[in-house]
Amino acid sequence: MSFKPVFLTVVIATALVVSAVVINSFRPKIEIRQPGTSFVRATGKCAECHRRETSAVVHQYEMSRHAEKGVTCLDCHQPQSGQDPMDHRGFVISRHLTSANCKSCHATEYAQYARSRHAAPAWAAVSGPKSFTSEQIAFAEQFHPGAVNRAPNALALLEGEAAISSGCQKCHDVGKPNADGSIGTCTACHARHSSSIELARTPETCGQCHMGPDHSQIEIYHESKHGVLFHAQHHQFNLAADPKSLTTRDMPVPTCATCHMSGLEGQKVTHDTTERLSYFLFQPVSEKRPAHAQGQVAMQETCLKCHTEPSIRKFYKEAENVVRSTNSLVTEAEQLMKSLQDEKLLTPAPFDEPIDYLFFDLWHYYGRTAKHGGFMGGADFVQWHGFYEIKAKLAELKRQADELRTKRRADKEEASQ
Ligand code: HEC
Ligand code: HEC
Ligand code: HEC
Ligand code: HEC
Ligand code: HEC
Ligand code: HEC
Ligand code: HEC
Ligand code: HEC
Repeated sequence: MSFKPVFLTVVIATALVVSAVVINSFRPKIEIRQPGTSFVRATGKCAECHRRETSAVVHQYEMSRHAEKGVTCLDCHQPQSGQDPMDHRGFVISRHLTSANCKSCHATEYAQYARSRHAAPAWAAVSGPKSFTSEQIAFAEQFHPGAVNRAPNALALLEGEAAISSGCQKCHDVGKPNADGSIGTCTACHARHSSSIELARTPETCGQCHMGPDHSQIEIYHESKHGVLFHAQHHQFNLAADPKSLTTRDMPVPTCATCHMSGLEGQKVTHDTTERLSYFLFQPVSEKRPAHAQGQVAMQETCLKCHTEPSIRKFYKEAENVVRSTNSLVTEAEQLMKSLQDEKLLTPAPFDEPIDYLFFDLWHYYGRTAKHGGFMGGADFVQWHGFYEIKAKLAELKRQADELRTKRRADKEEASQ
């Protein structure tokens, strides 16, 4: 046998093997890793058609951990109990998906989320308890007394249906009750098909709702050292790291998720965003939460993965001073409003007099902003968007109170003449 044909055969065979490997590496991962027949049926058939109909859905799904782990389109889209089934191209799918479709595989995350203020309290903040079952109300009230059993929001009622449905509810539907008996949606932070941890750890994801003058968390974060470093360096971080083994090497700078949810270096991941808080900062005059001490320990455990104890103690002391100081200014404004009501110069009804809006701005915008800035590193929000504005509004409030009283005196004098 001559050497030439053998050599040629070997070269051709090697070329074939190499090109097969190269071509294969360009195929979507899902085609290579998931050859099972049930997977092909419940994903391949949907994907084949939906690549033409809604290609972005299929691309997003292909990038997900779900595709990698063999979770099919139908695994999520099949009807759960209480959901309306719908015949669809040889399959039965649910007409509308909710957190119930995730809960079947992620019961722990659902249970944590369900006891947080992101669940029932978020929806009740706008609409009150009317769309919840009595079991759902009892469940949420044991964690957050008064957070579901309350009147529908007065301002929302005043602004009307369009503002409620395209405004308030678009953020507060994170806790909307569903017809199938579950609450809310998991896709507010994970999206529908990317089901991404990276997305959930990105500040802008929380900033969709946590923004604006009444809860300026994203703006404060951008101003903070943490936010500035994150923007400069995040491409060097491993934002997709497994939550069960996340280290400060993956993310040496915290995002919203790190402080409020992540399991950094041995901490527990939590979907209960209430767990690490110690004050009700959203209140006009902020009280301590019932689990005040636990909340501080839990949050500081996170800080201490990256900082020393004296610096965190100092930080909390300063932030608590901001809360105390804001509380005393808001209390002064509250007492002024109360005395005007006692003197029958104002009605106790909300938002029926211009001064009601002024008082609302004082605590709801500027009071909250100062407190959030104090706790999340936003100096400008503590001061120029916080204390300065509170003082300015308080001065205006006093001027309007004087005006009301002067007018009352003049009216009386006129009547007695
Ligand atoms: C032969 C093509 C085809 C197949 C197979 C297919 N779909 Fe569809 N699907 C469509 C088209 C077209 C639409 C647009 C609405 C319509 O015509 O029903 C659609 C709509 C949908 C919708 C939106 C329904 C709505 O009312 O808004 C979902 C969800 C969906 N498909 C999921 C799936 C899943 C999951 C599978 C596999 C289990 C699947 N589809 C299989 C073609 C297909
Ligand atoms: C992790 C669970 C999950 C997986 C896996 C999944 N979906 Fe979905 N899909 C959802 C959710 C949640 C929605 C939003 C449904 C709703 O609002 O009722 C949705 C919506 C859709 C829609 C409607 C999109 C729109 O904007 O109108 C289509 C079409 C769809 N999915 C197709 C697919 C196909 C095809 C696959 C597989 C390639 C797939 N889905 C895999 C969870 C999933
Ligand atoms: C059929 C079971 C099943 C369903 C239904 C399901 N998942 Fe998953 N999910 C999984 C599996 C399996 C993993 C991979 C776990 C692992 O890697 O350890 C996963 C992982 C995840 C992750 C982590 C992704 C990452 O990058 O590590 C998120 C987030 C997630 N799922 C969200 C959802 C959401 C939201 C829904 C509903 C819209 C949902 N899942 C529905 C089985 C499911
Ligand atoms: C779809 C809108 C939405 C998204 C996205 C969202 N939130 Fe929220 N969040 C809310 C609403 C609404 C509330 C107020 C709930 C209440 O107290 O009524 C809230 C409350 C909170 C609270 C306070 C809980 C308490 O007990 O007072 C924290 C902390 C929080 N969110 C953190 C986050 C983080 C971190 C993210 C991103 C990973 C995030 N949120 C994403 C809407 C959202
Ligand atoms: C941009 C998204 C967004 C919109 C729009 C929005 N909210 Fe909120 N709301 C939030 C977030 C985020 C919080 C949590 C603030 C915090 O804890 O600092 C919140 C907190 C609240 C709270 C205090 C928490 C509680 O449980 O008492 C009430 C009340 C409230 N919102 C009612 C409303 C009403 C009523 C509307 C419409 C008139 C509305 N919100 C519009 C995102 C939004
Ligand atoms: C407020 C935003 C938010 C909502 C709402 C949310 N998640 Fe998450 N989720 C996150 C974040 C952030 C992480 C990553 C935590 C970390 O950094 O370690 C995560 C992680 C996960 C993981 C991976 C956990 C692990 O230990 O590997 C799963 C699974 C998951 N979420 C499912 C869900 C399900 C199911 C729901 C609905 C019940 C849901 N999520 C609702 C923000 C959210
Ligand atoms: C460095 C850690 C850290 C980061 C990053 C961070 N927070 Fe906070 N956050 C805190 C601390 C500390 C508090 C006050 C805790 C307390 O009450 O003891 C707080 C308070 C809050 C509250 C107030 C809840 C109330 O009582 O009204 C919300 C909502 C919130 N954070 C959301 C966010 C969002 C959204 C982001 C990202 C844009 C973010 N946080 C970034 C540490 C952080
Ligand atoms: C994942 C690591 C990490 C976590 C968790 C973390 N930080 Fe930081 N923090 C940093 C880094 C990195 C810097 C920038 C330090 C520098 O300038 O080199 C920083 C800066 C700061 C600064 C500004 C320092 C200065 O002197 O200007 C403050 C204040 C701060 N952090 C407070 C906190 C608090 C409070 C918590 C918890 C609620 C916290 N941090 C959680 C990593 C972290």
